[in-house]
Amino acid sequence: MAVTSVVGLQWGDEAKGKIVDLLTDQHDIVIRYQGGNNAGHTVVSGGTKYKLSLLPTGILRPNKVAVIGAGVVVNPKSLLEEIARVRLQGVEIGSNLLLSDRAHVIFPHHMAEEAVLEQLRKGEAIGTTMRGIGTCYRDKIGRTHAIRLGDLYHSTSYRKKVEEIVAFKNTVLAALSPNFQPLDAGAIATEYAGYAEQLASNVVDTTRYLHQALAAGKNLLFEGAQGSLLDIDHGSFPYVTSSNSSSCGIHSGSGIPERAITKMIGVAKAYTTRVGGGPFPTELNDAIGQHIRDVGHEYGTVTGRPRRCGWFDGVATRYGAMISGIDTLAVMLLDVLSQLDEIKICEAYDINGERTTHFPSHVEDLAQAQPVYRTLPGWKTDITHMRKVSDLPREARAYLDAVSEVIGIPVSIVSVGPDREQTMM
Ligand code: GDP
Ligand code: IMO
Ligand code: MG
Repeated sequence: MAVTSVVGLQWGDEAKGKIVDLLTDQHDIVIRYQGGNNAGHTVVSGGTKYKLSLLPTGILRPNKVAVIGAGVVVNPKSLLEEIARVRLQGVEIGSNLLLSDRAHVIFPHHMAEEAVLEQLRKGEAIGTTMRGIGTCYRDKIGRTHAIRLGDLYHSTSYRKKVEEIVAFKNTVLAALSPNFQPLDAGAIATEYAGYAEQLASNVVDTTRYLHQALAAGKNLLFEGAQGSLLDIDHGSFPYVTSSNSSSCGIHSGSGIPERAITKMIGVAKAYTTRVGGGPFPTELNDAIGQHIRDVGHEYGTVTGRPRRCGWFDGVATRYGAMISGIDTLAVMLLDVLSQLDEIKICEAYDINGERTTHFPSHVEDLAQAQPVYRTLPGWKTDITHMRKVSDLPREARAYLDAVSEVIGIPVSIVSVGPDREQTMM
């Protein structure tokens, strides 16, 4: 029996979608357990590109079940739009999609509130995806203003609750922002009741379903969204997302205990990217950074924002691997580094005159971190057609060895292009 987890080790967009897609064949059920439609997972197969936001990547394969677990926040409107979009690409979505009745629901007031709060933060904005993720999770933790998917099917209490919550949000948001247009509770309640009807056959107790599947010997594949450094508890707070996006979220977000997992795969880019605000010690605000952005097409899948690019940060990625308890590494987008004269790996930080190999817990210390680099020779060969590590130029193999050594974990997958075929296992 295989219970595998795929989790990002950096600040998201490590190409988790590609790895989950590759591993889906060997599993029966693919599970998203945290985050929401802030994620953008790309899969390229046979020349077709699929962009998934809330749907687990396993939905693309016939005879697999895709589960959205209790820890995910669900915007039913955008989920239905995504289902329609993916169906147009020929993907069948029906009883193969299960949504947890415990998952919390994102409402229009979550987006409205996030817009007001990000505006108020001005120069210190988190740079969120504006999908109402953080505001929905906050209401979940606060409990009084939260609605779960299962609540949508309890008609008397549901309408009353929407009215109470929207009245509260209208009062607060009008006080904070003079331009705020009050939301219509009745219209929202009716709109969401319509979404609930469309999703009725998909909403179940997924925790029970997953435990029954485990007992029946099914193979489970957990699909992390975002990355370990964006984790609400262990990431570069406050420039993080609002869920446990390291593997810490698997247990809480799915109800499956971590001891059930047989393999933890950490996905890392061969360099580093970040979207949104927050310190980024190895960021390259120069021609090399722009070159990486151009060659790697580093623009956000969800928001289209240019991603910030920099050298591989061994300190940050090792920390990500440590908190996620990784067994093995997938190194992605190695091809993007071809054509560079030399390539750097950050092995340590100098912070206020002290050298350290530990990732600091305070954002101000991270902002002060000066990277200490190991410089390796580049390779000027196109590697996108190569399929075996032994085919790679010597310099590329030396680079992979250095990444593995700095992280302290073996590399078991290397990716040299977006397509499924462009992978060395
Ligand atoms: P995710 O959010 O972790 O699933 O990653 P994204 O899909 O947001 O971003 C990864 C991007 O890199 C996608 O556009 C992929 O198609 C692309 N990609 C994946 N692997 C490779 C690779 O090895 N080389 C190149 N050049 N692109 C890749
Ligand atoms: P995938 O799954 C990269 C970032 C946002 C912002 C911060 C908080 O595709 O790797 P949020 O909307 O979550 O409150 O924003 O987190 N962020 C991501 N960055 N990849 C993602 O997902 C991300 N999801 C959120 O840019 O900095
Ligand atoms: Mg992404």
